[in-house]
Amino acid sequence: MRSIKDIGRIDDIHKQRNFLQLEGTLGIGHTRWATHGGVTAKNAHPHTDCSMKIFVIHNGVIENFDSLKSELAKKGHKFTSETDTELVAHLIEEEWKAGKDFGKAFALAIGKLSGSWSLLAMAEGEKAIHLSRNGPPLVIGIGKGEMFCASDVPALLEYTKKAVYIEDGDRAELTRGGWKVFGKGGKNAKRKVHVITWSASMAEKDGYPHFMLKEIFESQTKIREALSADVKGAVSLLRGEKRATVIACGTSYYAGLVFKALLQGKLRMNCDVIYGSEFPYLRTGKERAVVAISQSGETADTLSAVRLAKKSGAKIVAITNAVGSSLYREADKKVIIGAGPEIAVVATKSYTCTLAVLAKIALLIAGEGKKMTELALLSDEIEKLLSRASEIEKIASELSKYRDFFFIGRSLSYPSALEGALKLKEITYLHAEAYPAGELKHGPLSLLEKGVAVISLAPSGETFAKTLSNMQECRARNATLVVLSDKEEAISKATYSFRMPKMDPLAIPILYAIPLQLLAYYMAVGMKKDPDKPRNLAKSVTVE
Ligand code: G6P
Repeated sequence: MRSIKDIGRIDDIHKQRNFLQLEGTLGIGHTRWATHGGVTAKNAHPHTDCSMKIFVIHNGVIENFDSLKSELAKKGHKFTSETDTELVAHLIEEEWKAGKDFGKAFALAIGKLSGSWSLLAMAEGEKAIHLSRNGPPLVIGIGKGEMFCASDVPALLEYTKKAVYIEDGDRAELTRGGWKVFGKGGKNAKRKVHVITWSASMAEKDGYPHFMLKEIFESQTKIREALSADVKGAVSLLRGEKRATVIACGTSYYAGLVFKALLQGKLRMNCDVIYGSEFPYLRTGKERAVVAISQSGETADTLSAVRLAKKSGAKIVAITNAVGSSLYREADKKVIIGAGPEIAVVATKSYTCTLAVLAKIALLIAGEGKKMTELALLSDEIEKLLSRASEIEKIASELSKYRDFFFIGRSLSYPSALEGALKLKEITYLHAEAYPAGELKHGPLSLLEKGVAVISLAPSGETFAKTLSNMQECRARNATLVVLSDKEEAISKATYSFRMPKMDPLAIPILYAIPLQLLAYYMAVGMKKDPDKPRNLAKSVTVE
């Protein structure tokens, strides 16, 4: 058996080491998101045992790593990495050496672990790849005379449309011709074969230089699918409730804040928005209607919060892009946002589609279904904005010398400001933060001076006049003012500006997302950063 592993981008490693020199019909591979041990070639996966006959890859965290490792060390096992993963290879080795067949040895080793994992193992002379899931996702792809396994569906699209979602607690075996799943207690388990509706071409760049740019442009068409999403179940679950609790992380959390502004500001329905990771400490235990937002449906923090809420009796509405994902399966009501595969790490079209679905739900709860006609104009408006992408590119190049950015907005535009700042920092690694425009005077104004850029979101409406005053405060401190607005009065105050269309407040967070995403994109490209693969970040974060 042979392995090639190193640090750096896969393409670069391939150029230097040529993965294709590896011959054979069975293989495993993994890009590591470092939990235990630094980013070194030794810590890269796969990991192997003392005999170098067993190889494993792993996503997750083995929590009883220290005690298991010292037990194994006492038995004479030599470790070559600092990872928690390596010990699994040695645990299997112990059982295999004792004469168990490999599948049994794998199962016994897994039985000793606590923590979270999706794990794959293979061994010299064995014809199967063995897998186990406890937390992070695993999907089997069924090909013709070949089988695949991945942590997410887009990886399979090039090879097959048939997918089997491995459930938590499952173990499975893949051979060239088939698959077997063993559920809890090691018994044969039936799992449904799903036919994926996404196509491989949906996961290609289609002539765009980056997935991120392609995906920003796809909002125009995907928003229509989002607006036609079936939200009946979600609406019936939420209608009549006095309070909704949103659980989400990252960009999805900001979508949750928009939902809150719609429910609470417009319908006077109470809404709490809680980060998945904070939910265990903030919950009351009385949450009845939970809206869990996760484009991947696999974010560990969101999932564990949802499970906690379910235990105390909450009903769950899932808003997700991933049919069959863990969140999808756990939820009582499911809404699919219809964004199609999103390959760039940062969320773009999945954010706008999520917002569209949430706006629809809010309107229907309020009994204002008629206003959907206003949202139906979104696709055309997005198209017009996208046709002016070069204006944003120009602003991005003007801003290239800046290192500090503040994004400000009020009401529905505050979550947009948060999302604009997040997008920028995720892919440019520049300092960017967001404030409700009215909060600048309570601290951050002390940071404003020449050389700091303030991006102000100033749509017309009830927030406009006050936002305008806040913009003046920024100018008075010599900050560079970038304004997104439909009002001349605001545009005329700006150092750089981008004129927005005037639309119903419901549509504003969706529309304003487009130039903000483009701004982050062009700034990253200008700085020669890869916007699709930001350092240290992952598309689905499957560890807590
Ligand atoms: C990661 C991604 C973000 C995403 C967040 C939540 O951090 O890099 O882009 O917003 O996870 O993901 P979810 O799939 O739950 O929406």
